[in-house]
Amino acid sequence: MHENASAEAGLPSRATLRDGRQVVLRRIRAQDKAGLLAAFHRLSADSRYTRFMASMRELPDAMLESATHPVAGREFALVAVTDGDAGTIVGGARYAAGPGSDTCEFAVTVADDWHGVGLAKCLMQSLIGVARAAGYRNMEGYVLASNTSMRGLARGLGFVDRVCPDDSTLRVVSLGLAEVPGAA
Ligand SMILES: CC(C)(COP(=O)(O)OP(=O)(O)OC[C@H]1O[C@@H](n2cnc3c(N)ncnc32)[C@H](O)[C@@H]1OP(=O)(O)O)[C@@H](O)C(=O)NCCC(=O)NCCS
Repeated sequence: MHENASAEAGLPSRATLRDGRQVVLRRIRAQDKAGLLAAFHRLSADSRYTRFMASMRELPDAMLESATHPVAGREFALVAVTDGDAGTIVGGARYAAGPGSDTCEFAVTVADDWHGVGLAKCLMQSLIGVARAAGYRNMEGYVLASNTSMRGLARGLGFVDRVCPDDSTLRVVSLGLAEVPGAA
């Protein structure tokens, strides 16, 4: 990944959500560990399940460590925080790619009391911008078939939604990044 992809994609940035609340979107930092863990603990059991596809009471140390230390060149993570630097983490999105792959896999999570005001859409638009600037040609995600909000969000962003060939309880959503955004 180009080191300046996040700046090219306009990060950090400020977003005003549909209910008037504001957040700053910025790349994750090593110092975000405590904030990310607190955000995980505030998530409902349902949100944890749809994000991790497993019942997670705790976030294992190894996952927290890798979440806050994206591998340069093939991983990227951003967070949405209230009130700038010292603020609370209320959402996050990340992608990861295998070595040499031109396809990256995304994940996105928004705090339950911030659902439905457009925050995931802002996070995904920024993440897509970074992935495109970094040179990836495809973005995809694995989503529970029952996750109507994520599937609606993905479709609204132009992702194609297909059944997962290996597991009919999952959908694979994919977006070509090479096309010019908005082109007919
Ligand atoms: C899925 C999730 C990220 C959506 O976050 P959100 O901030 O509430 O979503 P947004 O408000 O940005 O919604 C954006 C779009 O998604 C679609 N959408 C949202 N909720 C929807 C629903 N219940 N049904 C259908 N479409 C929906 C709409 O197109 C919406 O656009 P609109 O508001 O202009 O109509 C959030 O519910 C979440 O964090 N869930 C737990 C983790 C998870 O499941 N992650 C996905 C797996 S990686």
